Amino acid sequence: MRVVSGIQPTGNLHLGNYLGAVKQWVRMQDEVAAQGGETMYFIADLHGLTQWIDPRELTANTIEMTATMIAAGIDPERSILWNQARVPAHSELTWLLNNVARVGWLNRMTQFKDKAGKDREGASVGLYDYPVLMAADVLLYKTTHVPVGEDQKQHLELARDIATKFNTDYGVELFPLPEPMVSKEAPRIMSLRDATSKMSKSNPSEMSRVHLVDSDDDIAAKFRKAKTDPDPLPDSFDALAERPEARNLVTIYAALADRTPQSVVEEYAGQGFGQFKPALADLAVSVLSPIRDRLTRLLDDRAAVSAVLAKGAEKAAALAAPTLRAAQDAMGLEL
Ligand code: TYM
Repeated sequence: MRVVSGIQPTGNLHLGNYLGAVKQWVRMQDEVAAQGGETMYFIADLHGLTQWIDPRELTANTIEMTATMIAAGIDPERSILWNQARVPAHSELTWLLNNVARVGWLNRMTQFKDKAGKDREGASVGLYDYPVLMAADVLLYKTTHVPVGEDQKQHLELARDIATKFNTDYGVELFPLPEPMVSKEAPRIMSLRDATSKMSKSNPSEMSRVHLVDSDDDIAAKFRKAKTDPDPLPDSFDALAERPEARNLVTIYAALADRTPQSVVEEYAGQGFGQFKPALADLAVSVLSPIRDRLTRLLDDRAAVSAVLAKGAEKAAALAAPTLRAAQDAMGLEL
């Protein structure tokens, strides 16, 4: 079992990333190690280039995201932690896979359509090719499992299609098909302002998401102002099917507390959001504030954080080299 996943260094980690992905990553460190497998997590700084970002901001974000991962529980002694750009094999394999992926496949990617918006002609080629780089990230390490939020599932299906076509076209069994592992507890955390859109760093409203670095007061204010409805909580989670805001808050509570949503609604049945929201805010603060404190301490020594990435990149590069070489050989490149 080899588990690989990545996160973009654009802005701070929010509750959607944390509950949908990073919390799973932390938990898997022990579970996967117990089975003799490996966990590998990276900062997707090359993906960060696909939409304009100030270079200094990208550098700072990469260090801050790394520190956030460590503060959230990723242990660089147990997991390989690195940044994509430090391992050139990611870019090299992308070029090889660009010749396997089909334009028609990329045209179906909903994230490109969302991110490019109306100005598709003005989008970067990198943004269009983004899913192929993501396929390379995963296939480079012969990854078996990829823990992600639901929004990344389509990209992983594409990675499987690319792997299958490569193996077939070149008559090899080089790439195993990576299995997406979408968090059961928090597949899709929604915006606090509008439960029809996912919690995302690209939403212009700061009130739509809780960041891991938010102050206790900000966390409380964001939950207090979260959109809800006037009805009390029912005694069954299924009864929230038509109440997306309420459902989202209960999902967040359950994921933060490592409880089932059903047990949460049973505890608060009959109570309104006037009671539920402060309880949720207290819970969020109790989970997030220790992470924030560790992060603040880690950022006192940015060079040490950068050194973690350099060490991780060495390990990742050693694992990537034979796969890249095998792909080059299969394609007939004389090296
Ligand atoms: P990114 O940086 O947008 O998000 C990182 C992880 O957080 C999950 N996520 C969410 N989960 C639940 N609810 C939400 N509202 C929410 N928002 C984000 C994402 O699904 C993701 O798992 N393309 C990827 C990074 C990447 C990658 C990879 C991932 C690059 N290469 C290879 C896996 C394997 C991305 O932009 O994630």
